[in-house]
Amino acid sequence: MMLSDAEKAAVQSLWAKASGNVNAIGAEALERLFESFPQTKTYFSHFDLSHGSHDLQVHGGKVLGAIGEATKHLDNLESALSKLSDLHAYNLRVDPGNFKLLSHAIQVTFASHFRTEFDATAQAAWDKFLSYVSAILTSKYR
Ligand code: HEM
Repeated sequence: MMLSDAEKAAVQSLWAKASGNVNAIGAEALERLFESFPQTKTYFSHFDLSHGSHDLQVHGGKVLGAIGEATKHLDNLESALSKLSDLHAYNLRVDPGNFKLLSHAIQVTFASHFRTEFDATAQAAWDKFLSYVSAILTSKYR
């Protein structure tokens, strides 16, 4: 894992702010993903994707919760994300390009909720962290 100590601290301190509100923040990130990149909705045809829906809250909470869990394992992300990596590669087969889109939607959501804390330094650290998470979740495709 190539995050510096300062980047790790930036990831964890923003997470401390977000962790109290995972369902709402996760749901908003998903809504932004689906609004900006409607093609990503194809994976969720079994969900109610209307604004603020229960499905969005629950799934948003799962996705953001997994990311929060990953912030606690910055020195062994591969093993921490191993099961999720199996799921996305073997079962879901999500096109890897979509991970960049979701990472973007998460960062926009953070920017709108944590205007002051999510400064350029924090954003750069999160961008790097989410690209590692994405690389791991898309590493097992074959
Ligand atoms: C399921 C995390 C990216 C599509 C899940 C679950 C988690 C998760 C925690 C639930 C696993 C379970 O129930 O055991 C993540 C993380 C991502 C990511 C951390 C990247 C940072 C994506 C992307 C897509 C996607 C980019 C597609 C656009 C799905 C789908 C499911 C799923 C379709 C199953 C939903 C269901 O039927 O319940 N993901 N995911 N994921 N993910 Fe991801």
